[in-house]
Amino acid sequence: MKRIGVITSGGDAPGMNAAIRAVVRKSIFHDVAISGVYYGYQGLMNGNIKQLEVGSVGDIIHRGGTSLYSARCDEFKTREGQQKAIEQLKNHEIDGLVVIGGDGSIRGAQALSDLGLPCIGVPATIDNDIAGIDCTIGFDTALNTVIEAIDKIRDTATSHERTFIIEVMGRDAGDLAMYAGLAGGAESIIIPERKHDFNNVVDRLKRGLERGKKHSIIILAEGVGEGFQYGKKIEEATSYETRVTVLGHIQRGGTPTAADRVLASRLGAKAVDLLIEGKASRIVGLKDNKLVDQDIEHVLSSNHQLNKDVYNLAQELSI
Ligand code: F6P
Repeated sequence: MKRIGVITSGGDAPGMNAAIRAVVRKSIFHDVAISGVYYGYQGLMNGNIKQLEVGSVGDIIHRGGTSLYSARCDEFKTREGQQKAIEQLKNHEIDGLVVIGGDGSIRGAQALSDLGLPCIGVPATIDNDIAGIDCTIGFDTALNTVIEAIDKIRDTATSHERTFIIEVMGRDAGDLAMYAGLAGGAESIIIPERKHDFNNVVDRLKRGLERGKKHSIIILAEGVGEGFQYGKKIEEATSYETRVTVLGHIQRGGTPTAADRVLASRLGAKAVDLLIEGKASRIVGLKDNKLVDQDIEHVLSSNHQLNKDVYNLAQELSI
């Protein structure tokens, strides 16, 4: 392995920069040259690739977003697009690639490995929707962002005795909503993985109000539906004054937490080690708090499992 490439793709996640830094510095530490691919798979197909040095990744460990930029790219999903990418990697004498991103990006890593270019996936997405690992890079930061928002909304909700629906990202996964709901003390958590009973949500609101509660918070995962529609339904069913906040992309930005920086540094470095050992088609991660690598195909063909205990606990504590 003479030269490694590093790419970030899909939705950015806080901690991606710490992962890039780890890949770059670990490669240089092992005397392997390192190139950065800019603007995700789109940039890869266009040959937007530059040599990186130790200093290229200075002063980024604490920054959100990705210094390599990112893109969503449909063309890369085609065999022609993947062939273009392989050509560019060959032109730039890249022998192995570290792909930092969510499931779509890591699927791309599998495709390139199948075409003969060894790739390692580093899971980074705020959605925490990858099977077989404890946590994706970016999830902890996004969770803290959501909690900060809930705490602020709580102040104004109490002042006006209002019900709030807070719509949280996560694509088809409910992890962000579930953990935020537990840590934020929400009355109800509505997520795609669990059928929800609208009457039960209304009952919980009524019970709380009768008990003298000054506000109610409902966390709605985007994968279930739109916050504004849900808010309307709640207001119609209860006649409680209801407001809706869609947190949107603020959940993707911001300074990564220490936990995300540490995770990203460990996973980025491990990815380089695997390429140097001659491995391909592996995804790195912490599993039961241990650093592991697993077959990409195996991980991506399994469904991320919701932590039932956490969900049940949140239900029990929000009676
Ligand atoms: O996968 C990360 C994520 O932020 C999802 O939670 C969300 O559904 C999606 O990306 C939004 O994508 P975009 O930034 O392309 O609108």
